[in-house]
Parts: sequence; C-alpha cells; structure tokens
Amino acid sequence: MTSEQVRALEAQHVLQTYKRQPVVFTRGEGRRLFDVDGRSYLDFLSGIGVVVLGHGHRGLAEAVADQAHTLIHTSNLYYHPLQGQLAARLAALSGLPRAFFCNSGTEAMEACLKFARRYWYSQGLTDRTRFVALTHGFSGRTMGSLSVTSNPAYREPFGPLIPGVTFVSPDDPAALVAAVTDKTAAIVAEPIQGEGGVRPLPEAFAAAIADVTQRTGTLLIADEIQCGLGRTGHPFHFQAFGWTPDLVTVGKAIGSGIPVGAALVSERVAAQISAGDHGTTYGGNLLAMRAALYVLEELTGSTAAEPYVSGGVMGHVREMGPIFGARLDNLRARHAIVSSVRGAGLMRGLELTIDAQPVVEGALAAGLLVNRTAERVVRMLPPFTVTAAEIDEAVEILDRVLAEVAG
Ligand SMILES: Cc1ncc(COP(=O)(O)O)c(C=O)c1O
Repeated sequence: MTSEQVRALEAQHVLQTYKRQPVVFTRGEGRRLFDVDGRSYLDFLSGIGVVVLGHGHRGLAEAVADQAHTLIHTSNLYYHPLQGQLAARLAALSGLPRAFFCNSGTEAMEACLKFARRYWYSQGLTDRTRFVALTHGFSGRTMGSLSVTSNPAYREPFGPLIPGVTFVSPDDPAALVAAVTDKTAAIVAEPIQGEGGVRPLPEAFAAAIADVTQRTGTLLIADEIQCGLGRTGHPFHFQAFGWTPDLVTVGKAIGSGIPVGAALVSERVAAQISAGDHGTTYGGNLLAMRAALYVLEELTGSTAAEPYVSGGVMGHVREMGPIFGARLDNLRARHAIVSSVRGAGLMRGLELTIDAQPVVEGALAAGLLVNRTAERVVRMLPPFTVTAAEIDEAVEILDRVLAEVAG
C-alpha cells in the first residue's frame, strides 16, 4: 500500500481520535524507523517512551516468538511460572513487595486508585475517598485516571468524573499541605510530569509530599509510567526524591512495545486487598510477562532479581543522560526561542517561546522524530540504547530546524 492509500483507508474507517503526522512506518531497526517509501528517521520519541531497547530487537523478538510458540495466555484462573518472577524483579527494583499486572498505563492508575480507596475502606474509614492531584499532571484517559489528570480539554467533554479530586500547583507546597485532609485517600504525582511539559517536581514540593504523607498516613501514588524504569537512570525516579510511596504505576518501558502495565503495592496496602477486589482477563499473561522479564534483564544487565542495579542498559542511560543534557543546554544558549531545557536522563523537553509544532514538523521533514506537548514544549524520549553519535545527530538537526523556524 502507498502512503496515500493507508491514510485514505484510515480516514474512512478508523475513529479519528488521533491527529497523526503524515508518515507511514513499516519497519524499525535500533533507533531508526523506515517509512513505506524506505526513508529513514532517527527516533527520539520511541513510541512515546515505550520502545526502550530500540526497534527490531533480536533478543526481545526471539523471547516473544519462543513464548508465542509455547503458551501465550491462560487467564488469571490458573498459575503460570512467569508472574511471580516478574513481580519479584520489580520488588527488588522498587522496594514495593507486590505487583498487580495489567495491560497499559491507565489501567495501572485505575488499579492504584481502587487500591487506595480499598485500603481505607477495609479499616472502616469509608469516607476517606478523596484524591489530591497536580496541575500539569497526566495519568491516562479512562474515567479514574482522567479524574486525576488536570488538562481541561481532556476532561471537560466527559464529566462528571469521579468526585473529590483537588488539584494543586507543584509550585505551591503550602497548597498541598492545605489540600490534604483526613478524607484524602491518596496523593497522585508524577515525579517528572511528562505530558504536562517535562516538568520535574520542584525539590521543595517533592519534600512536602514526603512530609505530608508521613505525617498524615495519606497514601502516595507515584506515577512512574513515563519517567520510571530507567528513563532517568534510576530504576524509579521517586527514588531520587527519597519517597516511600505505597503505590507505584508502571507502563510504557516495561514491555519495550509489548503492552504491559503494573501497579506496585506496599505490604500495608496489600494486606487490605482481598481476592475479587480487582482483575483483568489479559493482565499478566505469559507473552507479556516473558517480554517484560526479558526487558528487565536487559535494563539491569542481570538475570537475577537483584536489589542493586549496576550495569545493563540502565547503566548506559546514566552515561548518555548527562551528554544529552549538555548538548541541549548548548542549543538553548544558541537559540533565543528556547527558553528552558527541562528533565533528566533520557527524558527531556525544550520549552520554546513559540508553539512547538513547526519545530516538530521541521524535524520530521529532516528525518528526526520528536513531539510537541503542552503546546510550547518539544519532548524527547529516545530509546535507552541511543548512542552519543545519535544524540549529536539529533541535536544538529534541531539546531538547523530551530534556526529555520526562528527565521
Ligand atoms: C505519566 C503517565 N501516566 C499514565 C499514562 C497513561 O498510559 P497509557 O497511555 O499506557 O494508558 C501516561 C501515558 O502517556 C503517562 O505518561
């Protein structure tokens, strides 16, 4: 099929919920994608922070193919060997001993919201149901996740959402303290807000979260779907803040493209959850677990469930992150339309003084994939396997495109 035929068929039959860039990809290799006409693109978005091992990864493909030939799915009515193994590895990395498996980020957040309410309900505190969430926060598109997502454009057409959610600005620690009451079940926070514009939480706000949760017993749900599992060089970015969340959401990177999500749960919350409280048909099936086990082995450089991460692809991210940051700081110094560079590791955003769309389109035309978020931010989430030479290549393209767009 030609590019035009693909787009025409979609225009007729696919529900038009996405505003796609006009390109049709058919193949990938490492950090490169190839379109239907064979043109190559350097991928600095990795399917929105997903394909962390890079495209066409032979080891992952072989693990998935082997599992597909052996056994794909049995349901959660029965045991299989892989859920426990993956849960143990996630426990070693996060410090949270238990996992509930699902298929996407938003499902992981739905599970955490339910587990938070269940925790208080089990103790007879049936009105401790409220949530505190953050402006610029994004946690998904299903009803619960949407209720703790701040963007009015995503929320308004779908109300009424779940009641009792208070939004506070990450620039206002005092507002957070005031918003948490004895009716608050949990605070929901991304350690680095992704969709909201690649905004790391200010230190003072992160400290206020740690303090208020400790003082009041309010649960903390750390949304690590975009910033977690090595993207910033830490197994989870909440560790950079010294948080001890009771609930952690995991998605995106964990399957490197195979749909996997997880809610990680502390022992005190797990103790209040009973059989039948939550479930999903596909969650934790063998194909997804095998892929995620393979990805974690690659990320940590080990087949054992080790508490300490020393090497592997996460070690590589720790080397590339500062190089990427330094190159982007250099871009900011050269271009007046770049007002700030934000993020950590391989999660970075260039905030512009203008709408970011022309830069995204210019980069696409020059063979580089990045995306626009929060209107004026160019977001970059390259595969974890990105090389220093590829970082230089991407930054050179951005350098040219920023100059062109600024005129
Ligand atoms: C921080 C965060 N939470 C939740 C989600 C929702 O994940 P999914 O799109 O897999 O449902 C996303 C997706 O971008 C995200 O970045």
